[in-house]
Amino acid sequence: MGHSKADWSGDLPPYKTKMTEPIHAAGLGVADRLERLQRASYNVFNLASNDVAVDLLTDSGTGAMSQEQWSAMFRGDESYAGASSFARMENAFQDLTGMRFVLPAHQGRAAERSLFEGLRHVGVLDSGSIIASNAFFDTTLGWASRFARCENLYCDAFDQGHGVPAAFKGDLGSDRLQRLVAENPGRVKLVLLTVTNNSAGGQPVSLQNILEVSAFCRKNGVLVFLDACRFAENAYFIKTCESGQSERPIRDIVHDMFSHVDGATFSAKKDARTNIGGALLFSSSQERLYRACRPSIIRHEGLYTYGGMAGRDMEAIAQGLQETTEFPYLEHRVGQVAYLHDRLARLDVPVLRPPGGHAVYVDARAYLPAIPEHEYRSDTLSLLLYALGGVRSVAIGNLMYAEKDEAGRILTPAKNDFVRLALPRNVYSVEHLSYVARVFQQINRVKPLLAQGVCVSGDFRNDHFDHFDCSMKPVDPDAFERAVLSL
Ligand code: F0G
Repeated sequence: MGHSKADWSGDLPPYKTKMTEPIHAAGLGVADRLERLQRASYNVFNLASNDVAVDLLTDSGTGAMSQEQWSAMFRGDESYAGASSFARMENAFQDLTGMRFVLPAHQGRAAERSLFEGLRHVGVLDSGSIIASNAFFDTTLGWASRFARCENLYCDAFDQGHGVPAAFKGDLGSDRLQRLVAENPGRVKLVLLTVTNNSAGGQPVSLQNILEVSAFCRKNGVLVFLDACRFAENAYFIKTCESGQSERPIRDIVHDMFSHVDGATFSAKKDARTNIGGALLFSSSQERLYRACRPSIIRHEGLYTYGGMAGRDMEAIAQGLQETTEFPYLEHRVGQVAYLHDRLARLDVPVLRPPGGHAVYVDARAYLPAIPEHEYRSDTLSLLLYALGGVRSVAIGNLMYAEKDEAGRILTPAKNDFVRLALPRNVYSVEHLSYVARVFQQINRVKPLLAQGVCVSGDFRNDHFDHFDCSMKPVDPDAFERAVLSL
């Protein structure tokens, strides 16, 4: 049965608020925030959340749970072994995805580590191996690159430019995969398809691409896993944008997405709509790999019936997996992203088109062209957003992905230099998003005064995790302050 569209569909949020959380930072002014930034070594990860007005740092674990999730938590079975809450979560995953085996983990990156350890244990990964992805996320790259060479294989539509809209810019470039396999016979061992593609603008992956990639991989003995954090948002785009899919229920599409792969890594902090949790899923043909990953889960996470989670967390996930595939929820969620995207586009802020599933991506290269490439434009923009309006965002660009030297100087720039505005699920209203748009209006006025960006100051490890805690500073602190205080 297809979804029938009500008159108000899309305009009326499918929830109302039962409990509120204060925004303490509403009373701070620009000078207060400049002082907070200095104390935080100009790294927004170091800010206290009480000093943030609208927190768009991440959509991970920051959502509001439903009353049914909170209710289910009271049923949490906290037994060390064989908890009924695990059985309920396991059933929910099996029902939704058709995957046979489920291992719990406290969050996505823990599931990833255990997958790679298991793959090494069964001899699939060794020092000469390659793992390919439509794009690895930062922490995923951090783990995967310890086990194998990693290759990002974007699709042509993504490479055509951020302003060019195409429905499935998150696809993996399948011709690039064929070339990689041909040039490295027997070495490509795993393809990790990230749905939606977080490092590539939260863009979705088409069902056709999943089919194509998995058919090629089957033929060539390559395993395919989904990095399935945002599977429901991805399924929404398949339903609404891919030809021949519009009449299918979301759950049917989700089942289809998983039916072509060997397994999945999963962070429940996104589309399961919980504040913590994760899982590793395996198809029925991957029992050996599932058993090989178990010891790693036991070593790092806990027994294979809780994996670092409380029973109540697993209850919340089981319930969240039901609710996250409801069409009105997804329509509202993706609609919020599109709303903010359109507001910014109307202010001539160069946003990645079309809007993705969980966030708006601003192209900092196009937005702040006067600042030199090596002065971390996206981090500069992220600091401006906080200084001018208390909006916290995250830079997904040079600090995260560029090749750098030991002092944090850029050697080879990253493919993209984005600021991501990620929307927590069911947390902010249109008024909050309007406020964010007004902060961009102020940035439009301030940016002609800024010719310099920021640089790394102090210790720098030069690993995949510097952006979480390294110190930065404006190249010209006085000019930065003058520009920000000029309004
Ligand atoms: N894969 C993707 C695509 C992700 O976006 C994330 C997390 C992970 C794996 C790891 O999951 O956080 O539960 O360990 N992304 C968050 C973000 C942190 O802000 O996009 P985790």
